[in-house]
Amino acid sequence: MADIIETINRECESSFYVFDIGELKNRISYLRENLPPYTELCYAVKANPFISKEIENDVERFEICSPGEAEICKAIGIDSSKMVISGIYKTPSFIEALVADDSFKGIFTIESLNQYELLLSLSEKYGRELEVLPRLTNDSQFGMDESDVEMIVSRRSTNRLNVMGIQYFSGTQKTSLKKYQRELEYLSGFLGRLREEYSFEARELEYGTGFPVSYFAGDKLDEPALLKGFSEILDGLPHKPRIILELGRSIAASCGKYYTHIVDIKKNKGHSYALTDGGMHHIVYYGQYMAMKQPFVSVVGKDETVENVQWTVCGSLCSMNDIIVKQITLPDIKVGDILRFENAGAYCMTEGISLLLSRDLPAIYLVRGNGELFRLRKPFETKLLNMPEYEKV
Ligand SMILES: Cc1ncc(COP(=O)(O)O)c(C=O)c1O
Repeated sequence: MADIIETINRECESSFYVFDIGELKNRISYLRENLPPYTELCYAVKANPFISKEIENDVERFEICSPGEAEICKAIGIDSSKMVISGIYKTPSFIEALVADDSFKGIFTIESLNQYELLLSLSEKYGRELEVLPRLTNDSQFGMDESDVEMIVSRRSTNRLNVMGIQYFSGTQKTSLKKYQRELEYLSGFLGRLREEYSFEARELEYGTGFPVSYFAGDKLDEPALLKGFSEILDGLPHKPRIILELGRSIAASCGKYYTHIVDIKKNKGHSYALTDGGMHHIVYYGQYMAMKQPFVSVVGKDETVENVQWTVCGSLCSMNDIIVKQITLPDIKVGDILRFENAGAYCMTEGISLLLSRDLPAIYLVRGNGELFRLRKPFETKLLNMPEYEKV
């Protein structure tokens, strides 16, 4: 990896991400080895669209939540039979275009009665049978009440919507086995009720587990124990349909690293500051203010830390909030050194406040297991989005 970073650094003057596909594939193998053999994986594209093509044959499905994500998946050639069109708002024209396209073979989730009506009417209009997964709510704005799901199931033989089972997602970074137990027992009970009251045998349960990622020093995560406990809970459920686990960060986070250059160093009122050409618009973990915790960060090519200096590492956004690491010991740093942030493969490049100050977004590189290096995006000029264009209307 050291030569790869050198190669990238020669052509890219500013911050960049690198996604390591060898590591990504190892991660998926690890998850498969530590989960029951009857589970399948659905990759939540929102976590990192850039790696989707690389894992086309490593996961059974892709969860797509917007027209943009669908366009990306189409453009990179993801087979539509692997797509689950999900998302709280399903733009009607986008859904109609998919239904009108005979070659589209994906599944649709149903998040509301209005979405149900939309899919019903489109299936009639185009004379197509559509595979659907009503989404059960977790007591949030997502999904529907049990009674709405029951209504959809009860009417299944009167229309062209082929109800495959249900989808359920209750939030991310879940570490409590008790919570998994409660959720899975609830879901199993609900599927049992659909069987008894509506003679409906669900063929699948698409379950967003929200498996956690350890982003900060001090995060308490015993992943092997969590996966073992989760597997035992699943094993203990009576009557299992096909189980598809919808995962984003747990698949993608560890393959990515974010690199940013130290561009200035100063001491203000006794505090040592290192300024970078990146910042909180490039690196944000799980929506957290970075300064509250300590991410896994190191200096490329330098190991030995200087214990008596506490650095505050800041970005380039002219905001006092743009602190990406607070009070950390580092090696003997100088301007030009590169900081490397771990676990930057999921959401980091999409959750930052990208448009403040019209600075560029980082370049994105991908390295395959055989060492092949690709640039997937050049540094992206956000000034184009903040540039007024006068058009008289
Ligand atoms: C429906 C659904 N499934 C899966 C995910 C992925 O969650 P995570 O990245 O925590 O695995 C999300 C994230 O928002 C989601 O909304």
